[in-house]
This record gives sequence, C-alpha cells and structure tokens, in this order.
Amino acid sequence: MSSLPKDFLSRALGRIQPSPTLAVTQKARELKAAGRDVIGLGAGEPDFDTPDNIKEAAIAAIRRGETKYTAVEGIPELRKAVAAKFKRENGLEYAPAQIFVSAGGKAIIYTAMMASLNPGDEVISIAPYWVSYPDIAALAGGTPIVVEARIEDGFRLTPEALERAITPKTKWLIFNQPSNPTGACYSREQLKGLTDVLMRHPQVWVLTDDIYEHLTYGGFEFATVAQVEPRLHERTVTMNGVSKAYAMTGWRIGFCGAPEPLVKAMAKLQSQSITHATSIAQWASVEALNGTQAFIPERKKIFEERRDLVVSMLNQASGIECPKPEGAFYVYPSIRKLVGKTAPSGKAIKTDGDFATELLEAEGVAVVHGAAFGLSPFFRISYATSNTLLEDACGRIQRFCASLC
Ligand SMILES: Cc1ncc(COP(=O)(O)O)c(C=O)c1O
Repeated sequence: MSSLPKDFLSRALGRIQPSPTLAVTQKARELKAAGRDVIGLGAGEPDFDTPDNIKEAAIAAIRRGETKYTAVEGIPELRKAVAAKFKRENGLEYAPAQIFVSAGGKAIIYTAMMASLNPGDEVISIAPYWVSYPDIAALAGGTPIVVEARIEDGFRLTPEALERAITPKTKWLIFNQPSNPTGACYSREQLKGLTDVLMRHPQVWVLTDDIYEHLTYGGFEFATVAQVEPRLHERTVTMNGVSKAYAMTGWRIGFCGAPEPLVKAMAKLQSQSITHATSIAQWASVEALNGTQAFIPERKKIFEERRDLVVSMLNQASGIECPKPEGAFYVYPSIRKLVGKTAPSGKAIKTDGDFATELLEAEGVAVVHGAAFGLSPFFRISYATSNTLLEDACGRIQRFCASLC
C-alpha cells in the first residue's frame, strides 16, 4: 500500500482511535472467513430483524417517491412523531422545532459536540463509557474528562464523584443509561442525586444517551434526566434513536430533543455535512414510533432470559465475577482474580487485553477488553445473540478460565 505525504492527515484525526468494538467484530469476521470456529460477542446490535410493518413503511415511501432531499432537521412527520414519543414515554414536552434528526444516535452526539465545543471546554464521560464519547469530544476540539463509576457502586456514577469532576470549564456531561458497556441503570432517586449536583453548576449541559431505554429488566422503570429534574430541560439534550429498540442499526436514524437554538446550530452544521438522514429511513422511523410497539416487550423478555443465562454461567467460571445488570444487552464481568495467571499458550495474562486475545486464540470467543471502555480489568460481552451460541460461548469461557494457571 502506498503511503500518504507527510502531514497529509489532519491533527484532529490523530486525537482519536478507530472504534475498538468495530475492530473486534471485524477480527471475528476475518477469523470466521479463514475457517476458524469463532463466536463473536463483540457486536452491539440486536440479532432480531427489523419488524415487517417498518420495512413495509420504507417500501411504501419508496413507491410514493419519497426519495428526494428532505428538511435538514428531519421530515416534519418524524419530528412530530419524536415529540409525541418523548411526551408519551418520557413525560417530556418538546415542540417539533426542538427535535433534531440525524444519521444515527452517534451522529446526534457528534453534531451536538461539533456545534458547541471550543478548545478548553471539558466534556465529562463516565468510565466505563461507550467507546465513542471521549473520542467525539476530542475530535470536536474539547477536552475529554473521565470520571470512574466503580463496580462497588454498581457501575453508577456517584454524586460525589460528579461534583469532584466538574470545573468552571465543564461544558457537558455525557450520561448514558442503561449503560453500554455495563448495563447499569439509575433509579429516579439515583438520578436525582446527580441532577442535584448539576443544579449547582449552571454552566454544565447534559447529553443523555437513552438509546437502550426500552431494554430494562426485572421490572426496572426507566426515567430520563429532564423528567426527574424539569429545571434541567433547558440545558439537556435528550438523545435516543431507533437502532436498538426497533432493531434498525443499519437504517441510521437517531434523534434528540434539545433547546431550539442548539437545534438550529446543529442544523447549520448538518446542512454543510451530511445534509440530512436518508429520506426512506426517516419514513420507516415514523412507522417505528407511531406503529405497534407490541414486539418490544416480547423481545425484552428474550433479552432478559439471555442475561440470566450469561450471568449465571459466567459466575460459574473460576475467577470471574459478573454483576447482574438491569438493562441493555451487555455484561461487564471482572477478571481481577485472573490477572497474573498464565494462559495455555504460555502467555501471561497481565491485562484485560491479554485476556481477550488469549480467549480468542484458545477458544475462539471474541469479546471486547475493558481498557477499550476506560475501566480495567474487565471485559464486555454482548448477549444479543441466540441462547445456543451464548451457552456454547460461556462454556468455552469456563473452560478457558479453568485452563489458566
Ligand atoms: C450507548 C450507545 N449510544 C449510541 C449508540 C449509537 O447508536 P447508532 O447506531 O444509532 O448511531 C450506541 C451503539 O452501539 C450505543 O451503544
């Protein structure tokens, strides 16, 4: 491969890493293509198909000729459907003018950060974090600040830790629950503890990533930031999308409710970048939000069974401690007791990266190491796959852990 001229690439690009979760998925795919027996537990997407009524709505949109440019902020029908969703499911009042649509939840975060960050502005992410938050903040010219949510606290940020992380330069807290990668959720009371801190710091805005909202288990009731503390509404971006709840990762639709001046600023940016999200996917999302929601509880039940299976089997693997999360489709087990052991290959397990590499080598199970999410020594498993594969994979992990000495 030829190389680029020196200093050809932007310095901004040098501030970020390629997505490690996509890298694991790619590695698993390559090994499989080369004939290895590999189970990939790295991907963060539901294994279910997009429901038929949503597909039909997309096909109908194509037939109607909805194949032209749309409004930059999103088609009025989708902005209206999103405002209605926020009212119905979250008790939040957003006018359609306060709704912004982009090509996925990730693009919402990216656009909000690009539209608001200046050098020196600090953006707090909570470790273990979804891999993109600090990199998006850095790419947008801000300073990523990482505050830790400890396993002892159920991987939840405490009000004290939040208070300590805030400085006069803090512009954003990026908050996410149910969490990727831990599945941790916050009760209304726990959220109130955090919003009380934010009320004392009027310079701090919150971007709450609620994309796993519909995937909570054991009767857990989801609440979002501006719902728990309505006085934060004017400095909150409530982000959500169709990717996870409606199994629509490939359609690339995310949305948010936000103060109108920020929506306008994000639209200005989007008008000079992607222009708008795909017209057909926007129409499909109108159906996702306005159509039947009956499959959500059915799928949620399946995820809950998988969670129980994985947590139980991993806790039977020697040296692994796996907390039982209340949401999303991930578990984040600790390998604290395995660090310092030696793999069958003779390689020492010094880090969670070594653990993931050796597990893939020895047993063909692809997981993502905790360092990718900013908290070690852990690994993440996505259980958005069949029970048969999960049982097989967890059996292999048990065997691998037993083989360490
Ligand atoms: C916490 C979190 N936020 C946002 C996203 C991105 O969603 P989308 O595919 O809609 O960009 C993901 C996807 O993995 C996620 O886990």
